[in-house]
Amino acid sequence: MSINDYHKKLTDEKLEGNEHRNFVGSYWDEIGSLQFNFMKDFGLKPSMQFLDVGCGCMRGGRFFVSWLDEGNYFGIDMNESLIKAGYDRELSQELKDKLPVKNLLIDDLFRVNKFNVKFSMALAISVFTHLPLAYLRLCLIELARATEEGAVLFATFFICPEDRSEDDSLMHEQGGVITFPFSDPYHFKFSKLSNSIKGLPWDIELVGDWKHPRGQLMVRFVRK
Ligand SMILES: C[S@@+](CC[C@H](N)C(=O)[O-])C[C@H]1O[C@@H](n2cnc3c(N)ncnc32)[C@H](O)[C@@H]1O
Repeated sequence: MSINDYHKKLTDEKLEGNEHRNFVGSYWDEIGSLQFNFMKDFGLKPSMQFLDVGCGCMRGGRFFVSWLDEGNYFGIDMNESLIKAGYDRELSQELKDKLPVKNLLIDDLFRVNKFNVKFSMALAISVFTHLPLAYLRLCLIELARATEEGAVLFATFFICPEDRSEDDSLMHEQGGVITFPFSDPYHFKFSKLSNSIKGLPWDIELVGDWKHPRGQLMVRFVRK
């Protein structure tokens, strides 16, 4: 059994129907611009080297590539067909010219050190909502090798209120998504996120509601 559906390769037929946009959760324009505007509001500058963790097929990437200085967008994802769909189908030639192919890495264990870059800011939209909690720790361990003090990772989660049992399924009022403790889509208590990264060189803070249409909340990690 696989931990989520993202190991599946998109067929040419599905790509013709733009199925890759649905595969990453739809809301193509809405969540694309939402994540871009959020990052700008929280300090992203065109001169920064920016990492999109679980970048998928350029839902947000196309906005970031357009706005960042040439070569400053980097993406990592486990699904090669999604990365390819994003590059081939969602970027104009002008945007392709700003994004070296070597800035897109296919990897399922967050080995971002392979880029040989020190990132200032990183983002993981709807990635840890599809993964068991151990992957958050793995990602932060790997990202610590590719960042310096003060770097920031923003990541979204379905959060279980502290006064609810996280062992049951949970319906999220905003968007009506039902999440689970042991299967995709996952929810976690914020206290559990916090405990899971003990001993790592990251501080954690709940940013909270950022108007995600499916009710995912934003969490900020700051490199110590
Ligand atoms: C819901 S999609 C979101 C994609 C993108 N962040 C966006 O906002 O459009 C989740 C993405 O996480 C990727 N992903 C899931 N597990 C991963 C892992 N272990 N390593 C790298 N990418 C992963 C999937 O392949 C998929 O592209």
